[in-house]
Amino acid sequence: MERTFAMIKPDGVRRGLTPEILARIARKGYRVVGLKQMVISRETAESHYGEHRERPFFGELVSFITGGPVVAIALEGENAIAGWRGMMGATNPANAAPGTIRADFATTTGENVTHGSDSSESAERELGLFFRPEELL
Ligand code: PPS
Repeated sequence: MERTFAMIKPDGVRRGLTPEILARIARKGYRVVGLKQMVISRETAESHYGEHRERPFFGELVSFITGGPVVAIALEGENAIAGWRGMMGATNPANAAPGTIRADFATTTGENVTHGSDSSESAERELGLFFRPEELL
């Protein structure tokens, strides 16, 4: 069993995609062990995306992710880290496989509807950043 951090980004929430995405997670069979809608502080956003601090789009990314409510989700399941990344599809929706969330619902790399941890280290760090231990089942 593995846990991962998933997020519905502000574009996904604003467009009313939360139920569709949660339905896909349920159909896949992952267990939602934590969930909350929230507005991310600048401090949390800068920490979450800290590894991209030097990249040219960092400011835009932080503004976007703090610009409206997100849904933070803790998922549990067999191979959940890679599995959720697979369900999302490639970061650039133009390269995302048909049937993935980003292929189906996004057109730009900046506003690509969902986030998922890319490793067990990231998952642990991101779950710790967004959830207090008592908020996880
Ligand atoms: S990945 O999956 O980490 O290899 O993708 P990467 O290309 O490194 O992108 C990391 C996150 O930055 C977002 N991103 C951007 N935001 C705004 N503008 C531009 N141009 C841009 N390029 C990349 C991308 O959506 C990734 O966000 P997350 O939440 O990690 O998926």
